[in-house]
Amino acid sequence: MRPLPSLDELIVAFDRGLRTVFAPAQSLRATPGENLPEAELTDEQRRLSASLMRVNHTGEICAQALYQGQALTARDTRAKAALEQAAREETEHLAWTERRIEELGGRKSLLNPAWYAGSFALGAAAGLVGDRWNLGFLAETERQVVAHLEGHLQRLPVEDSRSRAIVETMKEDEARHATSAIKHGAAELPSPAKAAMRLSSKVMTETAFWI
Ligand SMILES: [Fe+2]
Ligand SMILES: [Fe+2]
Repeated sequence: MRPLPSLDELIVAFDRGLRTVFAPAQSLRATPGENLPEAELTDEQRRLSASLMRVNHTGEICAQALYQGQALTARDTRAKAALEQAAREETEHLAWTERRIEELGGRKSLLNPAWYAGSFALGAAAGLVGDRWNLGFLAETERQVVAHLEGHLQRLPVEDSRSRAIVETMKEDEARHATSAIKHGAAELPSPAKAAMRLSSKVMTETAFWI
């Protein structure tokens, strides 16, 4: 059993949050598709790609916050290590989407600080209810993200291979995060919880498309 987070841990978490939202993210892996040529996109296609990548970037901000919140309150050290590993990959997703938004001449969501705060609180709450549920929440989040990214692959312009390569790789990573959570003993969440999660991510994705 792990004691509640110390003041030091809270300060580190707060500092991480500020850096996630306001500082550029770093990636160890190369950005997927970075060797592919930039496609000739119409203005409309470029705007659509930038909006979709903004949604994905906000999703990654939320993923960072959920993972950091969960890692802060998770009790089992093994689950904690799995969460931190996944969080590192989410940082790469954050860097890739951020870079792609810039290439497309788009901008990040103005509401990212609010999404970070809300997701962090949700993650910390999930961490408190115990590791099986914590991991179950993670597995379900990742499953829903995979479905969401699949939807984006249908909406992104076929010509925009650079954006598509990023989304494809993210989708593979998220599916692996779900599998790893299940392997570490994730419980299956009750249907109403799954539905509530789908609803809140719908609010996030639809808002981030515009704001
Ligand atoms: Fe991700
Ligand atoms: Fe993930």
